[in-house]
Amino acid sequence: MNDASIIDGIDPPMIEQPARDSSPVIESWLVYAHGLAAIVTLLISVGFGVLASIELLIPDLAGNTPWLTWGRLRYDHTQGVIFGWLGNAFFAFLYHAVPVLTGKRVTSVRLGQWLFGLWNFAVVAPGWILVLAGFSQPLEWAEFPLVIDAFVMVALILALIQFLPPFFSRQLEDLYVSSWYIIGGLVFTLLAYPMGNFVPELIPGARGAAFSGLWIHDAIGLFVTPLAVAILYYVIPAATRRPIFSHFLSMLGFWLLFFLYPLNGTHHYIFSVIPMGAQIGAITASTLLGVDVILVVANLLLSLRGAGWFPRDIALRFVATGTVFYLIVSIQGSVQAQMSVNQSVHFSDWVVGHSHLAMLGFATFAAAGGVIHAWQRIPWARYNAQMLEWAYWLLVAGVVIMVSDLTIAGLVEARLWQSAAPWMDSVRAARPYWIIRTLTFIPIGAGFVALLAGLITGDRGAGLRNVQEELGLEPVSEIAPRFAPEVA
Ligand code: HEM
Repeated sequence: MNDASIIDGIDPPMIEQPARDSSPVIESWLVYAHGLAAIVTLLISVGFGVLASIELLIPDLAGNTPWLTWGRLRYDHTQGVIFGWLGNAFFAFLYHAVPVLTGKRVTSVRLGQWLFGLWNFAVVAPGWILVLAGFSQPLEWAEFPLVIDAFVMVALILALIQFLPPFFSRQLEDLYVSSWYIIGGLVFTLLAYPMGNFVPELIPGARGAAFSGLWIHDAIGLFVTPLAVAILYYVIPAATRRPIFSHFLSMLGFWLLFFLYPLNGTHHYIFSVIPMGAQIGAITASTLLGVDVILVVANLLLSLRGAGWFPRDIALRFVATGTVFYLIVSIQGSVQAQMSVNQSVHFSDWVVGHSHLAMLGFATFAAAGGVIHAWQRIPWARYNAQMLEWAYWLLVAGVVIMVSDLTIAGLVEARLWQSAAPWMDSVRAARPYWIIRTLTFIPIGAGFVALLAGLITGDRGAGLRNVQEELGLEPVSEIAPRFAPEVA
């Protein structure tokens, strides 16, 4: 199987097929470098999270060591997962997907080296060190200090120059839905980033908080979600070799997402001093977003028809599981944005459970699927199918236990907060749940180590052999003819 046949697999009617001898050139070393950086930074970020979780149990653990204090560890944990893990994983995927989707090379290998260096050595590593040293920005999802934000902006501009020209060189004709999400994600992140990282510094008080709230949700809605959904829409047809179920639904989902997500941010400040009209608007948009996700996920699950409950191709299985997590977390989000629910669960561990379901469940499974899919197609890369199988099951177990545990903890806390009990009672009641959350490090940490081992041990080129042997789809008899062309 070469790259051209991958394009065939994605979407025969929508994408002009290049001749077999003009397969798009994929810069495999950049896929490899970002993929490895993604998993290494993920392991470090998880380390920060585990330490933070232990400090909730043993508050004096850090003693008088300021760089080990809880706040700094938490900042490094969340910034590490979004920039280090997801940022690198998305870049790894883009270096594979953009040439396949467009039939063109990315702009420049040299630019790719700069982007890799900037992202990891001018954003992630110094960001972590500065936060540990006490320099940070006390804004949610904007915790790295301002100087790092400047480098993030430069890196985002480089990413646009690197990945967008191949789309424009096709005059934007016949864009497959993943391409829409890639373009939308990269462009809107560049526009939204300054809103949460610079504007609140200039506009203090509730107005600044409103901008910060927009970014809190845009970080997830305009960066993480579009690029993760681009992976879902890419890997499913590429791995099943069947067109997606409905192009109409895919476009509807795309426009609804980009229209509704930016309106969601204020739902982080329900019952705050921000004008009630803005709060109600955000609640309405949050409800509609749930409807949008149901459309998108229905389309993705129908596109998986024939692949079985547990697809044998491990990349496809990660992606399919991420799709299910996407549905659950989005419906949960729509529900918790309602005032009646929000008034009890807000500030409780329920929300931390929601965040982990989003970032560790949905986004991480999508990103891992995207990286594995790209890896399988690097002819010289090592690949260990057994390790990846372990990674999948350990991570599923870890996510399910952690999210269930935090959700129950949140409900317990919420009930105590609504009673006349002293606040410390809720802290004591949460303790057993926090112990379990810390223990989930065992399956989750082991799962990520297995993911790394799956990509750096085993035979060279074993990924592609594995895909060819294991694809094994069930025959499909029915596809709605109104939406998708018949396949043989
Ligand atoms: C065993 C592994 C992990 C442990 C023990 C852990 C622990 C923690 C802790 C203690 C917090 C702070 C919660 C609080 O403010 O009360 C946190 C926050 C967070 N973590 Fe993790 N974490 C782990 C893995 C991950 C992974 C892999 C991701 C994403 C890929 C992630 C994403 C987040 C996010 C998004 C938040 C912010 C939660 C919020 O503000 O609602 N975590 N984590």
